[in-house]
Amino acid sequence: MNRTESILVTGGAGYIGSHTAVSLEKAGFRVILLDNLCNSDISAIEGIRSLVDYDVPFYQVDCRDKESLGDVFQSELENGTPITGVIHFAALKAVGESVEKPDLYKDNNIGGTRVLLEVMKEKGVSKLVFSSSCTVYGEPENVPVNESSPILPAVSPYGFTKQECERLIQDHTKRVTKQTFQSVLLRYFNPIGAHPSSVIGESPKGVPNNLVPYICKSAAGLSKPLIVFGTDYPTPDGSCVRDYLHIMDLAEAHVSAINFLFDKSQINRPFCRAFNLGTGVGTSVLEVIKAFEKVNGVSVPHVLGGRRSGDVVSIWSESLRAKSELGWYTKRSLEESLKDAWNWQKKFI
Ligand code: NAD
Ligand code: WQD
Repeated sequence: MNRTESILVTGGAGYIGSHTAVSLEKAGFRVILLDNLCNSDISAIEGIRSLVDYDVPFYQVDCRDKESLGDVFQSELENGTPITGVIHFAALKAVGESVEKPDLYKDNNIGGTRVLLEVMKEKGVSKLVFSSSCTVYGEPENVPVNESSPILPAVSPYGFTKQECERLIQDHTKRVTKQTFQSVLLRYFNPIGAHPSSVIGESPKGVPNNLVPYICKSAAGLSKPLIVFGTDYPTPDGSCVRDYLHIMDLAEAHVSAINFLFDKSQINRPFCRAFNLGTGVGTSVLEVIKAFEKVNGVSVPHVLGGRRSGDVVSIWSESLRAKSELGWYTKRSLEESLKDAWNWQKKFI
């Protein structure tokens, strides 16, 4: 297998990072995992290793710790496997918590990205994929949103950190002149589900904030009934509309993005390109519940409740740019995603 490119995956023990690590390994990249484990567990690293049958290196390091981060690049260089690209997942992502602790979110997410860019510059590494989010579009005036849709005021401090990190990376791309810095901003919509093996999946600490993990816990009898946050929105059934994509489709988008960066390496110019990653289809909360019950043959205890503050009413993606430039589009259905989510949850009943 061609393992010429070594990719550092920050936040590699997390939900999206762990699935991406497996897809990268399967595509022939050498993966180096880094995580401070503030929202994940070492078992995810063991899961990745068992799926790829390879002792993937793991560093327990905080991205804000410049010296330790530099040491990771140095030791891989000394091993003869210099890091040639980075996928930066490491961030805090709980929207509600970000409202309570905005400074923590700024420090961790913006601070971590700033330090990573400094270290990449010092070490001469010039390819970056950044985990951004549809949250950068704020409350959109028109749907679906594409990459030219306006970046509206963030609806949460978390969203603000994603907008700021995008700006930092765009500036860095323009400013770093010694190397040709080439970067991709991936704006994810709503990833759900798990690896089809159920060896890795989504394990939020505490009460899940996100819809599908909560549906799973509720169906498993491990939590109170799900509250449907709002049924009086101006949508077909009154509940909010989102764009849910399978985690393995999202993981594979990172392989496409890394390939895009390495394919472009012969072009000697800096660039920073944003891509939406979604299915292009909007689904309401009530539709997700119905689909989950149908595909898994279980009922989801739920009650209709009031609106959750800060919720966007409707957002889904136009992902034509990803299709034409990355050759990426989603291949798995909502039903497959919900089936894999439930298979993962069943391990914990
Ligand atoms: P996650 O919490 O499962 O994974 C993030 C990982 O980063 C965790 O393992 C955590 O321990 C680690 N981490 C956090 N701060 C760190 C730091 N300073 N140094 C080192 N490690 C650190 O979250 P996820 O769902 O896998 O999200 C990954 C990325 O994708 C995040 O940047 C998130 O903002 C972004 N994103 C997620 C979603 C989603 O719905 N899950 C949607 C859009 C964007
Ligand atoms: C989906 C829908 C809820 C839980 C979050 C972040 C966003 C981005 C994507 C990272 C909403 C409803 C939920 C529940 C419910 N992440 N819901 N009952 O709101 O699209 O966005 O993830 O960048 O920044 O905010 O995802 O899964 O929280 O909610 O009715 O118990 O499910 O109101 O309509 P959301 P979500």
